[in-house]
Amino acid sequence: MKLPKTFLRPPSELTVVEATAELELLAAEMAHHDALYHGEDAPEISDADYDLLRHRNETVEEQFPALIREDSPSKKVGAAPAGGFGKIQHAVPMLSLANAFDDEDVQDFSDRIARFLGLKEDQSLSFTAEPKIDGLSISIRYEEGRFVQAATRGDGGEGENVTANVKTIKGIPERLEGQDVPPVIEVRGEIYMSKADFAALNAAQIESGTKIYANPRNFAAGSLRQKDPAVTASRPLSFFAYTWGELSQLPAETQSEMIVTFKRWGLPTNPLMRTCGSIDALIAYYHEIAEARAGLGYDIDGIVYKVDRLDYQERLGFVSRAPRWAIAHKFPADVATTELLDIEIQVGRTGALTPVAKLNPVTIGGVVVSNATLHNEDEIARKDIRIGDWVSIQRAGDVIPQVIGPIEAKRKPNSVPFEFPSKCPVCDSDAVREVDEKTGEADVVKRCTGGLICPAQVKERLKHFVSRNAFDIEGLGAKQIELFYSDCLIRQPADIFTLRRKNEGLETPLEEQKGFGKKSIDKLFSAIDERRTIRFDRLLYALGIRHIGQGTARDLAKQFGTIEAFRTSVDAAITDGLESEAHADLVNIEGIGPIVVKALIEFFREAHNLEALAALLAEVTVEPFVFEQAAQSAVTGKTVVFTGTLTQMSRGEAKALAERLGAKVAGSVSKKTDYVVAGADAGSKLKKAEALGLNVLTEDDWIALAGR
Ligand code: IVH
Repeated sequence: MKLPKTFLRPPSELTVVEATAELELLAAEMAHHDALYHGEDAPEISDADYDLLRHRNETVEEQFPALIREDSPSKKVGAAPAGGFGKIQHAVPMLSLANAFDDEDVQDFSDRIARFLGLKEDQSLSFTAEPKIDGLSISIRYEEGRFVQAATRGDGGEGENVTANVKTIKGIPERLEGQDVPPVIEVRGEIYMSKADFAALNAAQIESGTKIYANPRNFAAGSLRQKDPAVTASRPLSFFAYTWGELSQLPAETQSEMIVTFKRWGLPTNPLMRTCGSIDALIAYYHEIAEARAGLGYDIDGIVYKVDRLDYQERLGFVSRAPRWAIAHKFPADVATTELLDIEIQVGRTGALTPVAKLNPVTIGGVVVSNATLHNEDEIARKDIRIGDWVSIQRAGDVIPQVIGPIEAKRKPNSVPFEFPSKCPVCDSDAVREVDEKTGEADVVKRCTGGLICPAQVKERLKHFVSRNAFDIEGLGAKQIELFYSDCLIRQPADIFTLRRKNEGLETPLEEQKGFGKKSIDKLFSAIDERRTIRFDRLLYALGIRHIGQGTARDLAKQFGTIEAFRTSVDAAITDGLESEAHADLVNIEGIGPIVVKALIEFFREAHNLEALAALLAEVTVEPFVFEQAAQSAVTGKTVVFTGTLTQMSRGEAKALAERLGAKVAGSVSKKTDYVVAGADAGSKLKKAEALGLNVLTEDDWIALAGR
């Protein structure tokens, strides 16, 4: 954070010249942070530091009202956000990758695949190996060979329409050339900025005395989310194609042939890709590229291995948003040492107390780090990390930097072990570690028990509510929530939607208050109005119920379609109790388990939550979630139970296949089971199925039904 030289002096002691200089610097500095925060998702400073800048700007302006600038941060409600892009549903979800950190993880990955496919000892597996590019993924749709659309990954299910910007990237062809270009193909790959281009850019920035950028990845991300495609065009971005989404017809049988085909069509592909026939060959490739890493023209953070045969990829499918047939073997993280200045305890939206290391800023892998996570109370105690210690910090790719441990040789003689608070630092309620009823073990996380009396929890919930993957309200971010919360204008989600009415009743309406203008307030109200309709899965995610992330919200929405159907089911589970069928039905939903159900029940049993939800629903309309089934099949919508030993495919593959065909796979037999597939030596489940008079299938019946 750049601070003006005069920053620490009281405003009343500044000369006009000094105040002018300060206000100019503050405007530039805050515009920079606004852009990082809103546009590139890469804040460099904490909210507290940002507030410090804003406060200083205000006090200097108060002292020198004549010097208030046209572009003063006090006139804005947040920076122009990067919104404004339309949304695109990905026809085929954009997945992420599971990670491997050592050779054993790679071996496990290969073993899992062999097991899933039921391969014999003598059936070998071939993989492709290629660098994992540290950029951002993109899906580019070609129809009849013409570039028609490009979308960011977004949450994997839905991304942003960045067509106009991607069209300006030089290496990406407008047309695919070749006899075998299919009528529809979504080419997927990574957009990145080369190290050389990034260095040249920063050199020019230094030359002209303007800001310098943290790293190529953030810069590429920001470039892609420009409102003006001309800006994107001026930035030297590059692209590698490495996979695909929707594809009307496969032009090859292996991953490696696909990449060769991509190249023939005119798409840029990574020349370092190689096929490997064994785990040893994969590991050798990994070390080879790790050696060459520094000399590569672009940043990479690991190696991606993919099963080469596409029929195997198809059979393997994916699990919890990552393919079973690919993995990222990560390079070890960058490490640095610095001084631990303080340990700050942050309170999250679920009350979790998270210790954050406040560090003497240090550069790790090209990025300045001044905060790092300390995980939890036990970690601090186990590693005996003390305030004032020198500590080693690691930063790997896109994850939050972590404190590895203290450097004891450098410990100061008067240091004392860190005492983790037993009270919430914000509301002073007791902070406790919940004990698991079954195992009797205490949770690693200490939580504030204040619930909705804890301002930190309330504010964090509201921030989550308006965040990008939830209600995504332009101009209403964390900072505005802080402000409106402290003004008592927004205390629960519904208040956001009644803000306009409330404002009309204010003695000094917002547009007349310091720091706002009529234009910005009008803009905010219309951004809020734009979100009065929301899809069910987003709403569910926005509520911030414990254990309900985006994926789980989507799984639930997929199952129930509407909020009404969902509520009926949860209410039944609450009324009928833990042993009820209603409860079992919830637990049996794919992707959902007892922990999620417990969290749902706890949330929907709480009167305060119900009131807040009712107030919200009086203001917003919830659209049903319509899940487009890829293909209708004989088992779509049916509930299937597998029991006994299958011979033609592993249990895992059978389950995955059923789900892909739109069936639900349950673990236990009930009246609601449509089919019971009984392999050899089926036992009690088969008996129960017969007793209930259910449809029992042999393995062959099942394969015929599944159309295999
Ligand atoms: S394959 C279905 N190959 O890594 C599998 N991903 O951590 C799709 N990435 O979201 C991914 N280089 O953005 C693949 N050579 C590569 C990659 C790569 C970078 C990114 C990609 C993905 C992320 C997962």
